[in-house]
Amino acid sequence: MKNFLFTVIFLLVTGWSVASVPNEDGSRLWLRLDAVSSRATISGVKCTAMTELQTFWKGGPVVLKRQKGMATDSYSIKSQGNKTVITAASNSALLYGAYHLLRLQQMGNPCTGLNIQEKPTYDLRILNHWDNPNGTVERGFAGHSIFLNPDPARMKTYARANASIGINGAVLNNVNAKPEALSAESLQKAKGIADQLRPYGIRVYLSINFASPIKVGGLKTADPLNADVIKWWKGKVGEIYKLIPDFGGFLVKANSEGEPGPQDFGRTHADGANMLADALKPHKGIVMWRAFVYAPQSPDRANQASLEFMPLDGKFRNNVIIQIKNGPVDFQPREPYSPLFTSMKKTPMMVEFQVTQEYLGAANHLCYLAPMWREFFSLVKPNSLKAMAGVANIGDDTNWCGHHFAQSNWYAFGRLAWNPELTSEQIADEWVKQTFSDENGKTSEKFVNAVEKIMLDSREACVDYMMPLGIHHIFAGGHHYGPEPWYTAPGIRADWTPAYYHRADSIGLGFDRTVNGSNNVSQYPDSLCNLYNNINTCPENLLAWFHHVPWDYRMKSGRTFWNELCHKYDDGLQQTRKFLAVWDDMKPYVDAQRFKEVQHKLRIQTRDAEWWRDACLLYFQTFSNRPIPQDMEHPVHELEDMKNFRIPITMYENPVCGFTK
Ligand code: GCU
Repeated sequence: MKNFLFTVIFLLVTGWSVASVPNEDGSRLWLRLDAVSSRATISGVKCTAMTELQTFWKGGPVVLKRQKGMATDSYSIKSQGNKTVITAASNSALLYGAYHLLRLQQMGNPCTGLNIQEKPTYDLRILNHWDNPNGTVERGFAGHSIFLNPDPARMKTYARANASIGINGAVLNNVNAKPEALSAESLQKAKGIADQLRPYGIRVYLSINFASPIKVGGLKTADPLNADVIKWWKGKVGEIYKLIPDFGGFLVKANSEGEPGPQDFGRTHADGANMLADALKPHKGIVMWRAFVYAPQSPDRANQASLEFMPLDGKFRNNVIIQIKNGPVDFQPREPYSPLFTSMKKTPMMVEFQVTQEYLGAANHLCYLAPMWREFFSLVKPNSLKAMAGVANIGDDTNWCGHHFAQSNWYAFGRLAWNPELTSEQIADEWVKQTFSDENGKTSEKFVNAVEKIMLDSREACVDYMMPLGIHHIFAGGHHYGPEPWYTAPGIRADWTPAYYHRADSIGLGFDRTVNGSNNVSQYPDSLCNLYNNINTCPENLLAWFHHVPWDYRMKSGRTFWNELCHKYDDGLQQTRKFLAVWDDMKPYVDAQRFKEVQHKLRIQTRDAEWWRDACLLYFQTFSNRPIPQDMEHPVHELEDMKNFRIPITMYENPVCGFTK
């Protein structure tokens, strides 16, 4: 009783009471404004922006003005007396302005005295959905495809959420595209989705299978220089534009991981991309041609994209953009940037980030990715790119992303695609305040500070407990959830096994990519090449990426490499324990449902971090033959148990949890 009274008094004094925080299931994302009871006066252009403001804006009159000559998607918001005037050249830009205003309202920020000018860095801000026709989502950890049986209410929330952060494109299907993506039935479906997204300024795109002329069209070849093939694609493109007049274009994964491509016919990536670009050009469509290529015989997978694409630099049509993953291997928690970004000079490029957490704990781990993307932009100049793509983490789960905090990555992707100079802190602050504020736009400062700190520290913690100091690709085979640095399978190609990347032996750990090794360093500009090539100047967080580091190599901390590795793994684990403890303390500030759901996930993450530390340290210890340092927590699991453990899931689902023995 005494405790209860104390709690009530505490909550009243701090201004927070459990009763004032109704349960939430996350389905409203960061768009949690309730419809207003008395409408504000919104005048001017009749468009989606007007409807949104009429429904949600609590302030004074707003005028929506269209003005020719303003840059694409840019807008201004100005307070004039008691009025707010939003000016832009198009309806979608007016909508971005309206969402800006609503964001200020929802964050509890001042909405008067405004003088805002906004202009996106990229014209194309595109989500890539890896959704299959049967409704599964490759690397999807939040249920099934939202496009399988598109529910109008969900589609509306999806469209609003995207538009609220400036996303203006959606590739509807998996890059591992099934030929039937171009069947009449699929195109009808794409049209239905396009119609629902259009009012929110979002265009649809499709991934295509390069062998479609054979598989859908019944031709004998898909050779991009063959006249019948060219004609077939022109016809198909025409058919698409009849249904979807503002169709965006194609995304293509070709000659990569078994997907067909122009090389099957002795042609180049440029031949393939240009043929499609020519078919799309009259309709103003584009081709996003992926540079995610690697070959089983390649001595270093990280070299392959440059080897294939550099000879083609400048040979692509101007409506082709080369879409390059941020790192040269594959969406690892930390990679250096892909060297193509600084070496290709004559070809438009766009970066592909992975919003879904394939290698970052799926929908079980809290890992806020803005710091990782900002790290990329610290070396790759934003204006050297044309566009930004993000592999979506969206599914039909009630809360859209599987983990409440995974929504922040969707949010951060959109905000950075709009403005890559925004800081991780700013974006986290916006997201937390909108996602957890009360109906008056208020969020407890204690909650905001604590939760933002967790978010900002979370990516580095993941790197530490998964693959610190530059080691990489040591994930479980197939589904990639959890540690399996020992993973192999009969007849498997070497570059699909972790040993190809970590190269552990009695001398040390890591991939020698120096001039004496695979020479990957020489794909970088001279200054970085020299920095990375020298073990003493190479950033320690990429050490084992570029070097085979001797176990006794002396680190800046004074520790040996082995001891540092042990400590890093343990630091990552201790961080997750802290995240959990801090969250446990947040109970008074958040609704019970989201509190419990996040707590549950943080518990999984903490157990997983322990699993990662134990598995990797005990396994690498079989090579290092060195003791685990005394001044850290020691592994508690048996290596054999962890080696015998496998999660029975496919790459289309989120595991219920990791190793639990
Ligand atoms: C990774 C991922 C695949 C995906 C591929 C791609 O390899 O594991 O599921 O198809 O990337 O980006 O094409």
